[in-house]
Amino acid sequence: MYYGGDYNPEQWPEELWPEDVARMREVGVTMVSLGIFSWSRIQPAEGEFDFAWLDRVIDLLHSGGIAVDLATATASPPPWMHERYPEVLPVTAEGVTLGPGSRQHYAPSSPVYRRLAAELVTALVERYASHPAIVMWHVNNEYGCHLHADYSDSARDAFRTWLRDRYGSVAALNDAWGTDFWAQRYTSFDQVLPPRAAPYSHNPGQLLDFHRFTSDMLLECYLMEKEIIRAAGATQPITTNFMGAFKPANYAEWAQHMDVITDDCYPDPNDPESFRDAAFQRDLVRSFKPDVPWLLMEQATNALNWRPANAPKAPGQMEALSIQCVGRGADGILFFQWRQSRAGAEKFHSAMLPHSGTDTRTWREVTRLGATLGSLSELPIGADARVALVMDWENWWAVESPDHPLNEFDYVKVLQRWYRALHRRHVAVDIVPPERVEPGDYDLVIAPALYLLRHQGAESLAAHVRAGGHLLAGPFTDVVDHYDRFLDGGFLTRLGPVLGVGIEDFGALVTPGSGPGESVAPLSGPFGTVHGTLLAEEVRLQGADAVARFSSGRRQGDPALTQFSGAGGTGWYVATVADEDGCDAIAGHVLEAAGVRPVLEGAPSTVDVSRRGDVVTAVNCGSEPVTVPLAGRDLLADAPVECVTLEPWGFAVVREG
Ligand code: GLA
Repeated sequence: MYYGGDYNPEQWPEELWPEDVARMREVGVTMVSLGIFSWSRIQPAEGEFDFAWLDRVIDLLHSGGIAVDLATATASPPPWMHERYPEVLPVTAEGVTLGPGSRQHYAPSSPVYRRLAAELVTALVERYASHPAIVMWHVNNEYGCHLHADYSDSARDAFRTWLRDRYGSVAALNDAWGTDFWAQRYTSFDQVLPPRAAPYSHNPGQLLDFHRFTSDMLLECYLMEKEIIRAAGATQPITTNFMGAFKPANYAEWAQHMDVITDDCYPDPNDPESFRDAAFQRDLVRSFKPDVPWLLMEQATNALNWRPANAPKAPGQMEALSIQCVGRGADGILFFQWRQSRAGAEKFHSAMLPHSGTDTRTWREVTRLGATLGSLSELPIGADARVALVMDWENWWAVESPDHPLNEFDYVKVLQRWYRALHRRHVAVDIVPPERVEPGDYDLVIAPALYLLRHQGAESLAAHVRAGGHLLAGPFTDVVDHYDRFLDGGFLTRLGPVLGVGIEDFGALVTPGSGPGESVAPLSGPFGTVHGTLLAEEVRLQGADAVARFSSGRRQGDPALTQFSGAGGTGWYVATVADEDGCDAIAGHVLEAAGVRPVLEGAPSTVDVSRRGDVVTAVNCGSEPVTVPLAGRDLLADAPVECVTLEPWGFAVVREG
């Protein structure tokens, strides 16, 4: 188990460093991420490097037995860069150049930025590749976190190259984007621009490709650094820190280039349900590389600085959420940051060592967590999920594109609603793109709002049903191809045969509370009456039975949930965006039919339950003490148990049997 955080010694006098290392040892820190924002210290001027201080701090950490996750420091360029090369600065869609004085002020496609980043990384890796303290390379930091897209001239040039490489000919581009609409037909790649501010809607194919391009530019930066590190002979694992469900970067693709997945996660202590969305994030990142434990690279010990109101964590909450990560596959818990800054934009952000010192609740909790993690020996991996929730980045970009029947779609919210229904029931779930679904892998696959469906993804989902599995799809699913174009033959053209339905109309509803018009579509079935929102589609039964029907409004009497058993397994289609209770009821019905068992029976829904092989973790995220029927060996108490009683934010890690 790794334990530690970002360490920014350059913010402190050197005399303090030995005290830092001593304190780290005191609380069981085993690894720190070093140098993330150190570019201006490491390279005070172009061509001039100062490694002496970094040598000293790395040696000091090493002599204290603290391993180093060495950052490449490329996330925040130094002032000399924009002074000499202002063209590295990013530009918004409206043409505003984003200035320095903050961080992440570089255009990812800028050749100058890339050249200078490469020089820095080359110098760093040549010096430290074989230093025994270095156990991991931390490339850049939270790629794209603040800069979700760049529209600069470097982006323009790189976008044209990217399109040329992808399409080969401008005719292929015209075909993919459907440019005969609104006289957009190009005769040269040199006419194409990023989707900069325009009088009205952009071409959807251009928007979608610009999302792909943006993700690829960031990934190219990562890969450039990774290749430099490997070429220099470094053998340590290489990673960059993810941010869970982060729209600009297609992490499902990126994951194959990470030796280990690392993730940053900051649940809002003001939201009593944020532990469920945090669980969603843990399962998402776990699913990227299910055979390799991931690391929580950043979380906060206590309050943040960047929300409108930054509530403190409740006593015990930080430890409980850390154990939630361990239960869901993490082999390391780290924080932003080791010592609270005394200056700068994040001085109010909590840290392991608070500004108020060691006689604090935060320090006591940090100490206790270090001991808890230190007492856990190697845990098995494998969540043994029989349910998959399909999440697809390209679909995310496309389904939230403008000019749809419904223009207020929040894909992740829809996914999280289904996830929460599973989480309340303690059902283990993998979160995967459709192509990752192999026949026989899962009893149930849930694919909500899978508007953009690639042919291979459609084939995987259909094969899953043909092999006997359950598929719950819809609404607004299987609508367009890879290029955001309709397919011949209507909608649901590829999944229709395994779902036994077709779609005639999407039936947008108004967003609840937003004005006149139908906003809610009640539906009644074996689970009673629940509510749909946003869409009430017109479904044509093509072999399926209606399990639930809309019970009022313009679709009254029409199918709302259908079931089809004519293609091997069972295809379910839901024709609306069910609300929280609706997802809960429908999920309960379908899980029952699919014979899916929870990880643990008899735990209240406010308990977070997860599995790693034969080890089950339970975390009480509710406000009342609970007793959970978890029998086996309590690995933290090192004692046999028949059941465990958990105070609010209490937890247990139990080896079954
Ligand atoms: C991000 C960054 C850190 C820090 C934290 C604050 O995760 O990577 O440098 O800014 O946010 O929460």
